[in-house]
Amino acid sequence: MIVCICHRVSDRDIEREAREGCGSFEALQGELRVATACGACTDCARHTFEKACVSPPAEL
Ligand code: FES
Repeated sequence: MIVCICHRVSDRDIEREAREGCGSFEALQGELRVATACGACTDCARHTFEKACVSPPAEL
């Protein structure tokens, strides 16, 4: 699912960054530019990032 239309950032992009150790939402914005244009996606992007940080996908 695309979270940020302005920069074409998906929930998977955000989850991947969280998995790779992106430590804060501000750092995520630096990497993906998510929520740095119109701002309409800010709440959804923040929620997706925080959820990915607390519940990383289970290892297979
Ligand atoms: S939709 Fe993300 S900044 Fe516009």
